[in-house]
Amino acid sequence: MNAGVRTAAVVPAAGRGERLGAATPKSLVMLHGRPLVHHALATLQQVDEIETIAVVVPHDAVSTIQEMARRSGLTKVAAVVPGGADRQASVACGLQVLPPGPDLVLVHDGARPFLSRPLASEVIAAGARAGAATAALPVGETVKRGEGGWALETLDRGSLYRIQTPQAFHRALLARAHEAAAREGFRGSDDAVLVERLGIPVRLVPGDPTNLKVTVPEDLALAEALLARDADAGRMLRVGVGFDAHRFGPGRPLVLGGVEIPHARGLVGHSDADVIVHAVMDALLGAAGLGDIGHHFPPTDPAYQDANSLVLLARVSALLGEHGWRPAHVDVVVLAEAPRLAPHVQAMRAAISGILHVAHDRVNVKATTTEGMGAIGREEGIAAQAVASLEPAPPRPRGAAG
Ligand code: CTP
Ligand code: MG
Repeated sequence: MNAGVRTAAVVPAAGRGERLGAATPKSLVMLHGRPLVHHALATLQQVDEIETIAVVVPHDAVSTIQEMARRSGLTKVAAVVPGGADRQASVACGLQVLPPGPDLVLVHDGARPFLSRPLASEVIAAGARAGAATAALPVGETVKRGEGGWALETLDRGSLYRIQTPQAFHRALLARAHEAAAREGFRGSDDAVLVERLGIPVRLVPGDPTNLKVTVPEDLALAEALLARDADAGRMLRVGVGFDAHRFGPGRPLVLGGVEIPHARGLVGHSDADVIVHAVMDALLGAAGLGDIGHHFPPTDPAYQDANSLVLLARVSALLGEHGWRPAHVDVVVLAEAPRLAPHVQAMRAAISGILHVAHDRVNVKATTTEGMGAIGREEGIAAQAVASLEPAPPRPRGAAG
């Protein structure tokens, strides 16, 4: 899905990381279990405006990063190319391999793993409006100019900014700025300065203090600590509840928990009326904050006429994966006066846990009667209630297998 300004991203990640001093190129240094450059790429992959990504890497890392992109579902990474002698040359390499189409280019350093989607979108919007924009942070500390270990001058920090990436530019303008700089032998440490040299103003967009650049070993340690803290926060408990009830009717099979149960009557409904699976789906969607089954599978849609609810459950399971969740546990109570369900409970658990790709003991099903009281007691129908909890999982891109 694309939204807003059609954008191509260039990710310079071809530096050797001299100051980090690791044995591998900086982009491949592991951070929280993934190569450093993967962090920024995974975020750019999720920015709706971005259609295509060119990654610029050391020549000896091209195939490794190509393989990483392919295996981790970074479908927008259309080119992985070797870089140049400095950052400016590497960005120029990336610009050269962008496909036609997008009129805006977002440049983001592979060494900044904490890019957020909102920051990328804000810079894209500002770049589209102004022609050129960069994330920037006001300087909070006193800044002096010094030489040889002595302070020479105290600068007015009120007008000073620390410049981050992302930066966004009209594509033709950035190409022109790179050409002019190359022609004149100017080397800049970011792309905005190349545009400034053309006399074109660059819009400053409030940056993000946590959008740090990994430069020295201490930055890597800090980045690791921040990710560990976020992982702890992500382990919070997410719980959802679901309920469903259907009436008995003639000429219908009785399907409960994905299992067909011998009985004189079945439940009436638009789909197979599997109250257990419906309650489970609503509990899962509720825990993920994704609405309910009526929203995802409208009863007015003929596609769901007599639908096998296990197929819909598989769709819910995929949706959870796309949003970075996997089921931790599901518990169901079925309210039915008849038939006796205990002999079928294990088969139901197996059917549901199989679809959800979780262990058998993570899905519990139990049945009770209402001792003859009320509509359930009069055997007018069957109802089910479910509670589900979720745990964070690495987000799976839409349509990914497994
Ligand atoms: N970069 C690049 N090509 C180069 C040099 C740098 O693409 N020839 C990229 C880096 O990979 C990084 C960004 O530009 O994503 C900012 O550079 P920096 O943080 O300085 O990274 P390195 O150059 O790798 O580090 P160092 O200067 O310590 O060697
Ligand atoms: Mg460098």
